[in-house]
Amino acid sequence: MRRKLAAGNWKMNGLSGSLGEAVALAATHSAPGVDILLCPPTTLLDRMADAVHGSKVAVGGQDCHPAVSGAHTGDISAEMLADAGASYVILGHSERRADHGESDALIRAKTEAALAAGLVAVVCVGETEAQRDAGETLAVVGAQLAGSLPDDGVTGDSVVVAYEPVWAIGTGRVPTLEQIAEVHDSLRAALNARYGAAAEGIRLLYGGSVKPGNAAEIFATSNVDGALVGGASLTAADFSAIIAAL
Ligand code: G3P
Repeated sequence: MRRKLAAGNWKMNGLSGSLGEAVALAATHSAPGVDILLCPPTTLLDRMADAVHGSKVAVGGQDCHPAVSGAHTGDISAEMLADAGASYVILGHSERRADHGESDALIRAKTEAALAAGLVAVVCVGETEAQRDAGETLAVVGAQLAGSLPDDGVTGDSVVVAYEPVWAIGTGRVPTLEQIAEVHDSLRAALNARYGAAAEGIRLLYGGSVKPGNAAEIFATSNVDGALVGGASLTAADFSAIIAAL
């Protein structure tokens, strides 16, 4: 039985005043059985980690560099994220794949760095609308999964996979439950085929316009172990309602 995970990706949103939302979230949830994660902008990471210390809320980064250290102006290493209090890091989000030209090979190197630093890597895959319309969804996400994960060290304790259709992110549009199930079943089969028993515990999150009103039906869908939430994770009220649906 995989533990459920509700992960919030604040993206480039949030100033110090937003920390109150994390504190409110931490105060609301104490029940076992559901893991809760917030990934704020890096500027808030250590303060958020302090603010929710001792609660059920874990914090994570939104990206890391594949190198341990060195001349990489503006970048953050996985070890630095861990040092700031992170226990997870989102990698290969479609916004980074698009805005920064991140390839599967780079995301794989970042995933290796994250695992070496003891972080749980939340590795994202997802098709564009044009790819879905062309009937390429399973091939696209399958190739992203295969290319973005390393051969070694991938277990339920080290890796989470998030399926985020690009066209569903921030748009209010959500795939049908059948479409979500088709992709999640395919990702689960691919993980099992590649990693065998070690893949059993790997959680599969759905992301893309998850809201309090649609969370329950998405969570009841085949092979959905939780959600990666953008906009609705910015307020404790909305994110709490989503967590309650898990
Ligand atoms: O990583 C989460 C994300 O891309 C989904 O964003 O705002 O559609 O929930 P949103």
